[in-house]
Amino acid sequence: MMDQAEALRNLVKQQERGEDVLATRVVTVTSGKGGVGKSNFSLNFALSLQRLGKKVLVFDADIGMANIDVLMGVSSTYNLYHLLKQEKTIWEIVQEGPEGLHFIAGGSGFRDLMDLSLEQLDRFAAEISKLHGKYDVILFDTGAGLSKETMKFITAAQETIVVTTPEPTSITDAYALIKMVKGMEADIQFKLIVNRASDAREGKQTADKISMVSQRFLQSELPHLGILPDDPNVSKAVKRQVPFTLAYPGTEASIAINQIAKRFLEIPQSDTVSGGVKGFLHKMFRLSR
Ligand SMILES: Nc1ncnc2c1ncn2[C@@H]1O[C@H](COP(=O)(O)OP(=O)(O)OP(=O)(O)O)[C@@H](O)[C@H]1O
Ligand SMILES: [Mg+2]
Repeated sequence: MMDQAEALRNLVKQQERGEDVLATRVVTVTSGKGGVGKSNFSLNFALSLQRLGKKVLVFDADIGMANIDVLMGVSSTYNLYHLLKQEKTIWEIVQEGPEGLHFIAGGSGFRDLMDLSLEQLDRFAAEISKLHGKYDVILFDTGAGLSKETMKFITAAQETIVVTTPEPTSITDAYALIKMVKGMEADIQFKLIVNRASDAREGKQTADKISMVSQRFLQSELPHLGILPDDPNVSKAVKRQVPFTLAYPGTEASIAINQIAKRFLEIPQSDTVSGGVKGFLHKMFRLSR
């Protein structure tokens, strides 16, 4: 079995040989308060990016509460659980959803990634490292709040998208999350999505409010990636188990998320910390470099 260190060495060799590897952007999607629209955002954002020609993997990191597959109406045979239990390899748990979107289902049956034995963790890291260079973007859809796993994913990824709604409770929790993460890992780059705004003005006010406190109290910029309207077709699409950009391509939320995807791709790459999957694993498991 290839261990973690060996898998990483192979990656470096691959890069030195100049093999065709994509510069993978590893992005975590998170929120303070739950139920604000992370999973719907992750899934439809991934589909929008894919329609813009990018190769995307959605990774359901809401461990034990998997639902990305439910939102797509796809039943997943294998998931993270089978990888961790060493029953399947990474390429056996990567599945295809609508429009050929690659995803890894979260599965259930285990609670704590950090309860795994060292050997299981090694195996996990070695398998995940095989994703390096295979995707333009890997999106980790996390659970709400500050579980140990979610913190691991956030502090290991190069970019974190924080989703909030205009509700004060959601804003306060988003700020608390940013503050906590910044306290642990100062150089995490956050980007903000305001979801379920009743109009553009409310969306902008929400974004301005969080940016202002973040700048004032954390000396941290919080670039605003976009506003998604409150759109009844989102809930209709969830009930139909079809991603809203597919079920209602012309609805307000779909138009907005397509614009957000374009904006995301326009962010100069030099502004995002490089390192791809390799960097992610280094940070996740604090490997010696
Ligand atoms: N833009 C929107 N307009 C209207 N309703 C929305 C919108 N976004 C999300 N919703 C509603 O919110 C519900 C929860 O969304 P979702 O499951 O994506 O949230 P979540 O943040 O992933 O939740 P959790 O914290 O439980 O993982 C959806 O089922 C939908 O009904
Ligand atoms: Mg979710």
